[in-house]
Amino acid sequence: MTNHRLFASLIFLLLSFPLSGWATDWPTLDLLKTNSSNLPKPQTIKVNHDPVYKTAKEYQAYPLAEILEKIRIPDSFKKDELVIVFTSADGYKVSMAYSDAFTEQGFIAFKDNASTESKGWLDFKFGKQIMTPAPFYLVWPKKNLDEWRYPWPFQLVSLSLQSAKSYFGAAAPAHADARINKGFALFSRYCIRCHSINLSGGKVGPELNIPKNITEYFKEEELDKFILNAAAYRAGTKMPNFENIITADEARDIVLYLKQMRSEKLVKSDE
Ligand code: HEC
Repeated sequence: MTNHRLFASLIFLLLSFPLSGWATDWPTLDLLKTNSSNLPKPQTIKVNHDPVYKTAKEYQAYPLAEILEKIRIPDSFKKDELVIVFTSADGYKVSMAYSDAFTEQGFIAFKDNASTESKGWLDFKFGKQIMTPAPFYLVWPKKNLDEWRYPWPFQLVSLSLQSAKSYFGAAAPAHADARINKGFALFSRYCIRCHSINLSGGKVGPELNIPKNITEYFKEEELDKFILNAAAYRAGTKMPNFENIITADEARDIVLYLKQMRSEKLVKSDE
């Protein structure tokens, strides 16, 4: 886990791995392979409030957008349907919309300027563990960005580009108008790490479509309000409060997406 990397040279290996068992090979960048010639120029960047260290930080880092521009995207891929999937050393994955990486400036940090040790990073406490973000850490210098939309994965080892439909599998709607598509994009940003749809997604919260869709037993006119503020319905809920993150309109789009999935129930053949 505390992989020391000398970053003077990193490589871009544009290998393709079939990550999710689908037929398509998605372009993958293995950050641990070395070759400096393919990398953008490193920069010194300042982060005002780092969510891991809870303080101001200064890093050596590569601009994410420039890294992405070096990844060749096959012509058949639609850029607005792509997600970037970040994989950490322990296999943890987090995704973000590909287009979002070009609207705000993210950086892949490889060294903490405050570190005087050769490992280049300072320790932080994560639960009961002491760790560092090595080898790579995705950071966003702009203040107050939505951390769901612009994630901060640490101990990053690779990133890959995939279509949202492939990455989110059976949770992606087959039939969707603009609002349902928006609802699905929001669900995949804010909800899918904890909730599955058609058994695709996280397991922290309940599955919301199989065997009964949430809109088949939950009052529809309460659902968008529950999504924004679950604690107003259930004391001690583990659901985060989304009132300052998701608008009322967006909560309705999420409900429209959830309702659509009622007619798209699928059970994976291997379950
Ligand atoms: C950090 C994990 C987490 C996230 C993120 C999360 N939820 Fe939840 N959610 C839960 C848990 C856990 C429960 C059930 C128990 C509880 O209330 O703590 C729940 C309950 C629910 C329920 C009620 C289900 C039922 O059958 O009673 C709905 C609906 C729901 N969540 C929708 C959403 C939506 C939509 C989002 C995204 C905007 C979301 N959740 C984000 C953890 C999460």
